[in-house]
Amino acid sequence: MSKTKITVNNNGSLIIDGDFQIVDKNGKEYHLGGREKVSLCRCGRSANKPFCDGSHRGHFEHEATAFDLPTKS
Ligand code: FES
Repeated sequence: MSKTKITVNNNGSLIIDGDFQIVDKNGKEYHLGGREKVSLCRCGRSANKPFCDGSHRGHFEHEATAFDLPTKS
């Protein structure tokens, strides 16, 4: 079984790719119309949250560079 991959885009969304499920706070599933890859908004501007609608363009800056979290205590 392959890992689910989340890609943090520069200045934009999170792309989730692989075997995943997205649910709301009550556990109800967002049906994805057969998509195995979707973009999730992380800028807060999308009118279609939790999905990215492109509204981040020109309004959100973050250079994504991976780093290590401290050990969980
Ligand atoms: S990240 Fe694309 S609209 Fe928010």
